Amino acid sequence: MKAAIYPGSFDPVTFGHLDVITRASQIFDELIVSVLNNTQKTPLFSVDERVNILKEATMHLPNVRIDSFSGLLIDYAKTQNIHVVIRGLRAITDFEFELQIAQTNRKLSNEEIDTIFLTTSLEFAYLSSSSVKEIASFKGDILPCVPAFVADLVYEKYGFKR
Ligand code: PNS
Repeated sequence: MKAAIYPGSFDPVTFGHLDVITRASQIFDELIVSVLNNTQKTPLFSVDERVNILKEATMHLPNVRIDSFSGLLIDYAKTQNIHVVIRGLRAITDFEFELQIAQTNRKLSNEEIDTIFLTTSLEFAYLSSSSVKEIASFKGDILPCVPAFVADLVYEKYGFKR
């Protein structure tokens, strides 16, 4: 069985992430979407909230499992017995950062873990969780960026109602 991990912050999940999740789930038998518990960042949503949002947003995809992890991705991948990491590439600006992480993970894992990049569909290439949060904080329209139930939860965090 071919399985892969799609790690990320997902704070919150966007249509860009969901595009990558959908396409990766068609390539692999099982896809684990795993939320990084990053103690150095102050996220809008807790890890549990992000896991629950991802579960709801992917419940139509039977081979997608939602999880969370702390520490190094390669250590987490080992616990899951998975050797493939999925990441999305939106534009050339993502490439340098992603290349560095992919090469670090390959080196740290004694070349046991490879990263496969999916290019984000063009209609979602402009999206980022950060811009979603910034737009929502000024009461802007985030419905083109995230599912409606996610938009409601984001606005709620900023004390707005859609
Ligand atoms: O959604 P993001 O914030 O761009 O995801 C970044 C992520 C989670 C893929 C990356 O920060 C990560 O894997 N962090 C775990 C720590 C780790 O393994 N670091 C070593 C590679 S530099």
